[in-house]
Amino acid sequence: MQRELGHTGLSVKAIGLGAMPLSIDGRPSEARALAVIEAFVAGGGDFIDTANVYCLDDDDIGHNERLIQQALREIGATDQVIVATKGGLRRPGGAWVADGNPDWLRLSCERSLRALQIDCITLYQLHAVDPKVDLRRSLDALIRLKEEGMIAHLGLSNVSVAQIEQALTLSPIVSVQNRCNLFDKRDCRNGLIEFCQTQRISYIPYSPVGGHHGHLRLGREPLLGQLAAKYRVSPYRVALAWLLGQGGHILPIPGASKVASVQDSLRAVELALDAEEMAALDRLPDL
Ligand SMILES: NC(=O)c1ccc[n+]([C@@H]2O[C@H](COP(=O)([O-])OP(=O)(O)OC[C@H]3O[C@@H](n4cnc5c(N)ncnc54)[C@H](OP(=O)(O)O)[C@@H]3O)[C@@H](O)[C@H]2O)c1
Repeated sequence: MQRELGHTGLSVKAIGLGAMPLSIDGRPSEARALAVIEAFVAGGGDFIDTANVYCLDDDDIGHNERLIQQALREIGATDQVIVATKGGLRRPGGAWVADGNPDWLRLSCERSLRALQIDCITLYQLHAVDPKVDLRRSLDALIRLKEEGMIAHLGLSNVSVAQIEQALTLSPIVSVQNRCNLFDKRDCRNGLIEFCQTQRISYIPYSPVGGHHGHLRLGREPLLGQLAAKYRVSPYRVALAWLLGQGGHILPIPGASKVASVQDSLRAVELALDAEEMAALDRLPDL
């Protein structure tokens, strides 16, 4: 199952890889991390989500991007995979802190280009809106990077409909990456997912199976257990199939630190839930 990335004409497999667990606290060995990326590509995956701040702290910035670059180079897949990265956060002492200042965004983008060893980033996402910096200033900085050829397409993350609308007055926007899963359906209810569809913007749900620790809740939800048993699949595949069913513009990016997880998630595209099952999952309350 291929899906268009925004209105770029670029096509990617509907399930991407969220590479964050390979580089943050509790990360696997380098050998296992490389094996996860290799398994993703071997399974037909061609869209990887990363960020300069997927790392331990400010001294480790770019860890995830370097890892992805190394893995793709080693398996000779650099040209087959779109690596989407982000700028707009810092990691002082391991915290996540917004910094949407134009100077920081430029420096971050330059460093990401070096870490990924490319001349142009296909999709560069503003990681979060910095409440201390006018969104227009952050976006103007990214638009300049695009004009200079360092970025091909712009995306947003952690934004509201109003912020997307503001951004669209300044530049085409290709993707929006917000938190969305069976236990957090805010963007299904507030119209944001539908808005993206009307604008031909890819909606990239992050933490699509519940998050770094929250994914363990999937195994405890009886309805998921029933559907998983019916289709002889994992509850993870059911959760991802539900997301894919929200529209043809949805590109979930499940995280993985194990080869088995990535192999399982990629197969979610094979599962089609019927309307009644989708509605029953819609009714599961947020946690
Ligand atoms: N834009 C933002 O602000 C933002 C914030 C958070 C995340 N993200 C992005 O979204 C991606 C995904 O979010 P996330 O990593 O927080 O949470 P997630 O994808 O909901 O959950 C990740 C965890 O779920 C487990 N998992 C996933 N699929 C599985 C399967 N098929 N079978 C068994 N276990 C499975 C993995 O376990 P194992 O580790 O055991 O493999 C993984 O560590 C991140 O990697 C990152 O790229 C973006």
